Amino acid sequence: MPGRVILDTDTGVDDALAILLAMRSPELGIDAITGVCGNTPLDHCMRNILITLDVLDAGQKPVVARGEARPLVRELSFAGDIHGDDGLGEVTRLVDSEGTRVYPDPVQLESPIHAVDLILESADRHPDELTLVAVGPLTNVARAIMKDPERMRGLREIIIMGGAFETGGNVSPVAEFNIHADPHAAQIVCDSGIPLVFVPLDVTRQAFLDAGTIGRYAGEGSARATFVRDCTARYVAFHRRNRGVNGCFLHDPLAVAVAIREDLVTKVPARVDVETAGDLTSGMTVSDLRSARWGEPNARVCTALDVQAFIRLFEERVLA
Ligand code: BDR
Ligand code: CA
Repeated sequence: MPGRVILDTDTGVDDALAILLAMRSPELGIDAITGVCGNTPLDHCMRNILITLDVLDAGQKPVVARGEARPLVRELSFAGDIHGDDGLGEVTRLVDSEGTRVYPDPVQLESPIHAVDLILESADRHPDELTLVAVGPLTNVARAIMKDPERMRGLREIIIMGGAFETGGNVSPVAEFNIHADPHAAQIVCDSGIPLVFVPLDVTRQAFLDAGTIGRYAGEGSARATFVRDCTARYVAFHRRNRGVNGCFLHDPLAVAVAIREDLVTKVPARVDVETAGDLTSGMTVSDLRSARWGEPNARVCTALDVQAFIRLFEERVLA
């Protein structure tokens, strides 16, 4: 039986790729996709989830629910330079030779239920079965914990794309975007007692997809590969400019892949906390992966990745 999953996302370009991978994976039963502000304002995030689902020919679409539009404490900040003003690499502006939008506004409607309530209802209905894969800031997850910590402790696990442990950050020398965008929410999740798996930059920076591979599959004409090429064009250009590589990191798809095949990664138990106050270190995931002397572990942190097996999985399911 497929594992029951809710994907919580701030859809963004690599979030869209994570949705494609999740929906194309028979091991996962995607109960719902919930949106949260992060890479892009919440309205864009919700539209991007639905546009991405329209690229798939999936007969049954998951419930899509709107979550939090602001972080718990911190001011809003987006990542338009990486994901485009629309959050999806500007594909919403793309027109064909007749001027028709290639990726029109979606027809599927959002659920009337708020994402936080939907997460709590699912946790209640399926105790010890539901995995939450969180690939955006942890605001929805923290709000659900604040509302009903007991019900949330019935989750099987939360897999979090976030943090930077033995590598540098991507919004500051020490902080990764998802944790930095709402560090107070992240600390609430760390203190929740729910089993946590962190999929940090340490491994997602190894999850590199080459632009040539994207182009090759898109040349074969599949709708999915063409969408991947269209929405990653600016994202790849960002990586080229800033990291000197011709391709992009599959941060969020890797978190989904860990839900599909946990043997893709090596995990170590660790006590993880988040800096919520520091001027220079705000949003840092604070942990010592080498030593157990700083407290009982509250998470497992991914430290190594079978890169080839992951890229093969992504190619087979999303691009082919
Ligand atoms: C994370 O931040 C976002 O920009 C990406 O979607 C990913 O979730 C990487 O730091
Ligand atoms: Ca994301």
